[in-house]
Amino acid sequence: MLNVVILAAGLGKRMKSDLPKVLHTLAGRPMLGHVLDSARQLDPARITVVVGHGAERVRAQYEGEPDLCFALQQPQQGTGHAVQQAVPQLLEGDTNDVTLVLYGDVPLVQPETLRRLLTARGQGVAVLTEILADATGYGRIMRGADGKVLRIVEHKDASEAELAVHEVNTGMLAAPTARLKDWLGRIGNRNAQGEYYLTDIVGLAVADGVPVQAAHPAAAWETLGVNSRAQQVQLERAWQREQARRQLEAGVTLADSERFDVRGSLICGRDVFIDVGCVFEGLVELGDGVQVGPYSVLRNMTVAAGARIEAYSHLDDARVGRDARIGPYARLRPGTTLADGVHIGNFVEVKNSAVGKDSKANHLSYVGDADVGERVNIGAGTITCNYDGANKWRTVIEDDVHIGSDSQLIAPIRVGRGATLAAGTTLRRDAPPDQLTLSGSKQRSVEGWKRPTKKK
Ligand code: UD1
Ligand code: CA
Repeated sequence: MLNVVILAAGLGKRMKSDLPKVLHTLAGRPMLGHVLDSARQLDPARITVVVGHGAERVRAQYEGEPDLCFALQQPQQGTGHAVQQAVPQLLEGDTNDVTLVLYGDVPLVQPETLRRLLTARGQGVAVLTEILADATGYGRIMRGADGKVLRIVEHKDASEAELAVHEVNTGMLAAPTARLKDWLGRIGNRNAQGEYYLTDIVGLAVADGVPVQAAHPAAAWETLGVNSRAQQVQLERAWQREQARRQLEAGVTLADSERFDVRGSLICGRDVFIDVGCVFEGLVELGDGVQVGPYSVLRNMTVAAGARIEAYSHLDDARVGRDARIGPYARLRPGTTLADGVHIGNFVEVKNSAVGKDSKANHLSYVGDADVGERVNIGAGTITCNYDGANKWRTVIEDDVHIGSDSQLIAPIRVGRGATLAAGTTLRRDAPPDQLTLSGSKQRSVEGWKRPTKKK
């Protein structure tokens, strides 16, 4: 039975923020959310988050998630003391009880690495370690002449010879739950920092004849912690570079892998092209051959094969059909479904509307709460007046309608199949099918009229 304990009680003083450190975001979501994601990939029986500074806000954000519970550490007396607070929450039940300790401010540890740590353990203890050129500040891994791990010495407690060791403790470890409880009860705080060190369990395990193994992360960024805004932005870039690497490996073309941001998941078909400066949020799916122009934002979008999104488009919670053309400067808002071959051009906003096959709105229009049929042409400057100041109403535009430029359709209203609206029509009643409807007053010219001149 696997327990995961996530340490998240620290202050994060160097963030200079009112927000608890683990709620600061990486790739658009709280650091703690990333750690929870990785932990959940391992199917733990329970995850216990040790909270302290900003405990209420952390709790409030994750309240109600059934596999999660919280332990309060107040005051903070070290990592060993932190895990001790979680002890009452640890579940036990079989011969393979194990507790995995993670840090809430080390957000990018990957499930693969954690699996490797759990496997390395056998029935004993495993610590995640790595070799660093500059080991300053880290706990050092002490090994015997036979190469076996003996104990961990914190930087502040280390001798000159111990400081020369470059193998460091990342902080993540796995230990048999019952033994861990016992060792935690036996650690003291007589050290340079007067803290209860979790790392002291390693020496206790060795003394008890429990083997201690070391495992290593697949990538260096997996074990990087965030203590400052500078570290946060560095890790953000490292992660975005990794996302870019994964897309390239999957066959996506990126105009520049350094100017590419995924804040969620991006799933691409074959031969997708993504230009510079795009941001993908939530779940975005791009079909085969989709092209995304520069500086576009796509949030919770499905874009079907062959569609092209031109520069500076902002697309939020919508579906785009095959071979559609969107933008430049288009805006799609939630609840929009565009069928195959639809064209939505510059400065066109579409909200909560369905637009049928091969219909076009190419310039400067607002289509809101509308059902638009197939092969409809919506002229420049057309507005669906969907809001009467109190309620929203629908506009229905049937197949093969042509709407002249600068028309207003005052909802609720219907334009019949094959109808044409003259330019500048203000439509207050339904337009019958197959006819021309116009609303403007008769055109006239005033003879002898003089343009006003400036007073001297
Ligand atoms: C710890 C390790 C060190 C390792 C380093 C890696 C110990 C004694 N030392 O040192 O070997 O090289 O991490 O970064 O474990 N926390 C609490 N409550 C506390 C203290 C810490 O929840 O009372 C949390 C922090 O919020 C943080 C994590 O534990 O997420 C690590 O704490 P930190 O103070 O950064 O540990 P270090 O002293 O750097
Ligand atoms: Ca640290």
